[in-house]
Amino acid sequence: MTRHRIVNRLQIDHDTEIVRLIAGLRAQPATIEPKYFYDELGCTLYAAICQLDEYYPTRTERAIFQQYRQEIAEAIGAGGTFVDLGAGDCCKAQGWLPIVAPDRYLAVDIAGPSLDTALTAMADDFPEIDMVGLVTDFSRQLDIPAELLTERVTLFYPGSSIGNFTPEEAVRFLKEMRRYTRDGGLLIGVDAKKDKARLDAAYADALGVTAAFNLNALRHINRVIGTDFVESGWRHVGAYNEAAGRIEMHLQAAGRQTVNIAGLPREFADGERIHSESSYKYSRNEFESMLREAGFTRISVWSNTEQAFWVFHAS
Ligand code: AVJ
Repeated sequence: MTRHRIVNRLQIDHDTEIVRLIAGLRAQPATIEPKYFYDELGCTLYAAICQLDEYYPTRTERAIFQQYRQEIAEAIGAGGTFVDLGAGDCCKAQGWLPIVAPDRYLAVDIAGPSLDTALTAMADDFPEIDMVGLVTDFSRQLDIPAELLTERVTLFYPGSSIGNFTPEEAVRFLKEMRRYTRDGGLLIGVDAKKDKARLDAAYADALGVTAAFNLNALRHINRVIGTDFVESGWRHVGAYNEAAGRIEMHLQAAGRQTVNIAGLPREFADGERIHSESSYKYSRNEFESMLREAGFTRISVWSNTEQAFWVFHAS
């Protein structure tokens, strides 16, 4: 028996999103937003990335969570609503639900099918917890219906997804999150600045899984707005831009490409790029300052011995 429910808010701004997507593809340089990675195949490819030797963030965060589970759970406190932002397969939350024992688990993600599958599989394991899925795009604005929240709210934002925002946008988003936490708090994973070779390898892996993940965005976009991108005409580029403190992912045209975008052709020159993702990396002090700027005052941080990744709790 399924005892979870799904609230779908994705359709609300659909037309605006399409307009933005087309404008981004026509811009010079062209850009697409990283959310277009996450169709069903994209979610599967991301899960595969997380298993790669080169991609350390997921594994490192998991190790930090496991090592300091009790201590972190004490910072979070019991009960209330545990909001999982970008829940995906809900796998990370499963370690927290037994120890935090919230009244409600609210899994938020842009990918509805994965969310439904995950909650169906989990619901029976947590009979005491009200299990709710919220399908929405929170990259623009965090908009959680008030009736889904309790007095105490813990926001769980793992995996260093905050890195997809520019530092300015990240502070704005942290401020939005601060408003929701009330007497609860924020548990967030942040990837640390580190040497370029290690970062480059994590975003341009030997098997080409990240390349497939990047190229798949073109297939997704073809489906969403009927463009005719040919994946074989594009190459994956993923590398650390040290001066900017961020990974940049691009799709680079291998030869001249003409793409039909909403009835109008768009020429891409040989070597021209579509910027598909930025993934910002932060020192401990940089991110702590951002949390303070957003209004958080009590801040704790956990890491591994090499300090490759940060886990912050802020309230
Ligand atoms: C899901 C945004 C955390 O930036 O590392 C992985 C996405 N892109 N490999 C990241 C991603 C390429 C990932 N986040």
